[in-house]
Amino acid sequence: MTRSNLHFSLDEDIDRRAGPALKTHPIVLGEGGENLFAAGVADMDFKAAPPVLVALQKRLDDGVFGYETVPDGLVPALTGWLRTRHGWQVDKSHILRAPNVLNILAIAASLFTDEGDGVIVQPPVFFDFYDIIKENNRRLVANPLSLRQGRYEMDFEGLERVAAEPRTRMMYLCNPHNPVGRVWTKDELLRLGEICSRNDVLVVSDEIHGDITFPGYEYTPFASLGPTCSNTAITCLSPAKSFNIAACCSAFTVIADETRREAFQVENSRLTANKNNAFANVAMQAAYKDGGPWLDAVRDYLAGNLSAVRSQLGQIPGVELIEPEGTFLLWLDFRALGLNPDELTAFLKNRAGWAVTRGPAFGDQGVGFARLNIACTLSKLKTALDQLTNAILSL
Ligand SMILES: Cc1ncc(COP(=O)(O)O)c(C=O)c1O
Repeated sequence: MTRSNLHFSLDEDIDRRAGPALKTHPIVLGEGGENLFAAGVADMDFKAAPPVLVALQKRLDDGVFGYETVPDGLVPALTGWLRTRHGWQVDKSHILRAPNVLNILAIAASLFTDEGDGVIVQPPVFFDFYDIIKENNRRLVANPLSLRQGRYEMDFEGLERVAAEPRTRMMYLCNPHNPVGRVWTKDELLRLGEICSRNDVLVVSDEIHGDITFPGYEYTPFASLGPTCSNTAITCLSPAKSFNIAACCSAFTVIADETRREAFQVENSRLTANKNNAFANVAMQAAYKDGGPWLDAVRDYLAGNLSAVRSQLGQIPGVELIEPEGTFLLWLDFRALGLNPDELTAFLKNRAGWAVTRGPAFGDQGVGFARLNIACTLSKLKTALDQLTNAILSL
């Protein structure tokens, strides 16, 4: 146990079932599933960072919650975070607020593509990308990642092909990539940016997982890589994952291109999606301004959890860990068990007591896989790993 971990009580056992958590709700766990290891929904079981809690308490104590504007410190807190953590100097006038990241993805599709236009995704990928494309009557253009010796890579030849199709207008990039945990390198992002820019394909880069990387890996904001990338980019940012404040925060988009930014602003206003929530603003500002030490402790803790998974899975047959570089989501390869998706879900649920996200939710390429959320206490994770070990050994 590290000192920072002790300092921030990340080992505290918090029963998510005590509140209306989505992760432990019957709509996710199913009826009678309340005692399963709830490791599906992508949030953390940790309390928010102390500076966030203090700031929220102070705001609550003020007791006045009339209409308000964006607090002066919010955007500087975000730009300061991007500059000091990620070396990205963002002009504050390029930042727009949005209710959440999915909303940015949807608005970008509806503003900058037409019905029937193609939007590229790289499966296996975050399932909401599919829903947004479908619900906006856009066309899914899949350019699957390639799995080579346990590591996922982008298929650049495939990308060249699909980007060149006349009605392909946009790409949803997941950087870092949920669920396979790749933290895309500068070279990969530059190559992607060059292909997309040359083919007039806008890159909507979902960077919600950017702050969470494992030792040795560094997240690169796509739009930070010079004008070829920034001119074609719509970046989606949010402190929801990094600081575990998904239920009380909103999101930001960074758009360097003035015409597109203005169009986004007009749409935000048309949809009245530009209102302020006092608690969201306070939580986000405190997180970006003072949450760094807590996030570092969480990253350490997650690295410890990852080691526990790696060492235990290394001792049992039938399941392979796809080594993650970032995110708190692990992509597990159960193909050697030879089970179909329903059988695998039933096995994990009924024999191991695991409620994880089914691989096919991320696309056909996810058949035989499952996504495990490790942002919980180490003791809970170890119990779950023992349950899985017993289930596999008794097969
Ligand atoms: C890649 C990715 N984007 C977006 C979201 C959701 O973001 P928001 O809650 O801001 O809509 C998630 C949540 O799991 C995610 O993993």
